[in-house]
Amino acid sequence: MRVVIQDDYEKMCEWAANYIADRMRAHKEDRPFVLGLPTGSSPLGVYARLVEKNKAGEISFANVVTFNMDEYLGLPHEHDQSYWYFMHDNFFDHLVDMKPENINILNGMTDDPEGECARYEEKIASYGGIDLFMGGIGVDGHLAFNEPYTSLTSRTGLRDLTTDTRIVNSRFFGGDPEKVPAQALSVGIGTVTDAKEVLVLISGHNKARALAAVVEGGVSQKWTCSALQMHNAAIIACDEASCGELTVDTYKYFLDIEKGERL
Ligand code: GLP
Repeated sequence: MRVVIQDDYEKMCEWAANYIADRMRAHKEDRPFVLGLPTGSSPLGVYARLVEKNKAGEISFANVVTFNMDEYLGLPHEHDQSYWYFMHDNFFDHLVDMKPENINILNGMTDDPEGECARYEEKIASYGGIDLFMGGIGVDGHLAFNEPYTSLTSRTGLRDLTTDTRIVNSRFFGGDPEKVPAQALSVGIGTVTDAKEVLVLISGHNKARALAAVVEGGVSQKWTCSALQMHNAAIIACDEASCGELTVDTYKYFLDIEKGERL
């Protein structure tokens, strides 16, 4: 696993956007470049930079297919806290050449969650898998909506959200955890780790405990993002603020080995 430490959130986002843009440009195959995408505040700066690059003609989304990580159960597209709404509002609507038919987001209004999730997995497989899955994590180390103790081989399915996650996410629901849906559809940890590359963004003091557990702790279903330790092309892009709980030798090791990557 690589850990790329940047000074602050903005630099972390710049590094990640450059990395994704490089990967998109390097993709020379006829089949589309398949990109997995997260929601949350962490990727916002990356989305803004990818939009800038797209508008400047530096990268094209004409041959890109996207699969989002997760969606709340029971929120319609037009709900301003649905992940469908978030993705269009913050990203897809601003791209000049993204084809709507290439956007895949789990349908939170389905009356057949199992079928919806099985079809999602089949559709990912039909494109030959995901080339690059970008992600963020929760303060408890959850990746997508794979809360602590979700199997590290899990596939796309229905998930119960923990009270802690509903409290954390209540900032988007008027501060009321009861208004946060109690369930979501989510790709599994196995779905993410099947991707050829995984790039996870970790920023801020409130993620410091999770970053230390994911990087220095063992592979454990308690911190589901720690499954990345078993992936041979996983990168964590993080900022200084999130490094507060790393041991000094781990911190120095990654600064040393990634010194060319510091922006
Ligand atoms: C939600 C999403 C996760 C996301 C997490 C962190 O729980 N399901 O995919 O990584 O929030 O969000 P933020 O980046 O806002 O801290």
